[in-house]
Amino acid sequence: MTVRVGVIGVGSIGTAHAASLTREISGATVSVVHDVDAARAAVVAVDLGARSVGAPSEVFEADDVDAVLIASPDAVHAEQLMLGLKAGKPILCEKPLATSESDARAVLDAEIALGRRIIQVGFMRRFDPGYVQLKQEFTADRIGEPLIVHNIHRNTRAAYGLITEQTLTNMVVHEFDINRWLLGEDYASVLVLAGKPGPLTPAGECDPLLIVLQSTSGVLVEVEAFANARFGYEVICRATGSHGQAVLGDGAYITRSRSFSRGVDIPELWFGRFADAYRRQLQGWVDALHTDGPLPGASAWDGYVATVVANRAIQAYRTGERVAVDLPATPALYREA
Ligand SMILES: NC(=O)c1ccc[n+]([C@@H]2O[C@H](COP(=O)([O-])OP(=O)(O)OC[C@H]3O[C@@H](n4cnc5c(N)ncnc54)[C@H](O)[C@@H]3O)[C@@H](O)[C@H]2O)c1
Repeated sequence: MTVRVGVIGVGSIGTAHAASLTREISGATVSVVHDVDAARAAVVAVDLGARSVGAPSEVFEADDVDAVLIASPDAVHAEQLMLGLKAGKPILCEKPLATSESDARAVLDAEIALGRRIIQVGFMRRFDPGYVQLKQEFTADRIGEPLIVHNIHRNTRAAYGLITEQTLTNMVVHEFDINRWLLGEDYASVLVLAGKPGPLTPAGECDPLLIVLQSTSGVLVEVEAFANARFGYEVICRATGSHGQAVLGDGAYITRSRSFSRGVDIPELWFGRFADAYRRQLQGWVDALHTDGPLPGASAWDGYVATVVANRAIQAYRTGERVAVDLPATPALYREA
């Protein structure tokens, strides 16, 4: 059997996912695409041997679509997820689940009302071999219990012209999710410090930011988020445990010596760093659909929590105060079996 996927939003990452599903991932094909830019959708459809349609609802309702991948802009994820929940087909939605806490809650409640988990959120770092190994450093007790985690997340330039608050819901949301996954616990509080603006920081905005979270057991999680770093895309995580430290650097790159210097290339964009994670995420999703097994990535609950934390971070940024992250109890649908 081949899983026939409908793709909504075929910009940069939607096109990459669609091409990967058709050409790299086993057991899947892309049958239908939609984009508000109809010409763009038509070009991608021709390239992939799919057809294009004029509305997201047509993707969800199509007889030749078994599952849907949403890669439209952040601001429309929630409304498209609500459409998808009505159709009841499995959905892999790019991060974030939603930008506002209330929209995230509405999506969560709709899935709870449906009574089964059909949403997976595209927090692909959970599939990155480096992060998987980093988590094992704690779970296999090689470096002891987590005490403090230092993270760096730099983009070459702010994607989509993001301003500071959107940086928290779009970019830093990866950090909120992956550190929570790494520690296996929720956050109790978040503080956001705005420092000296960099040369590309728009007037009135703040970049870089320093974000300090504290988990419910007290672990400190610190993030340098720099949306306009200019010199490359970098994600670094240095985790300190009670009897050791594990450092996740730039991925598996060669070190080159040349012209009296030694170093590695830094990718310009996330594809360069996380290509393997995106591929593993898609293959894991498709494999789960084949076996009707549990979805392997972040759930709607994880997506909801990340959006709540991002919104509390916005509050912390606005007030300069440390803000509590109070979450409701995990709904039964999302508790481990
Ligand atoms: N997981 C990751 O690491 C990662 C990386 C990049 C992007 N993303 C996420 O993927 C999504 C898309 O990002 P991108 O970089 O591809 O952006 P993009 O701007 O390159 O592409 C977005 C596409 O969606 C289309 N679009 C706009 N409104 C739409 C609507 N209402 N319905 C359908 N299509 C619509 C646009 O025409 C465009 O083709 C965003 O939510 C972003 O946060 C995630």
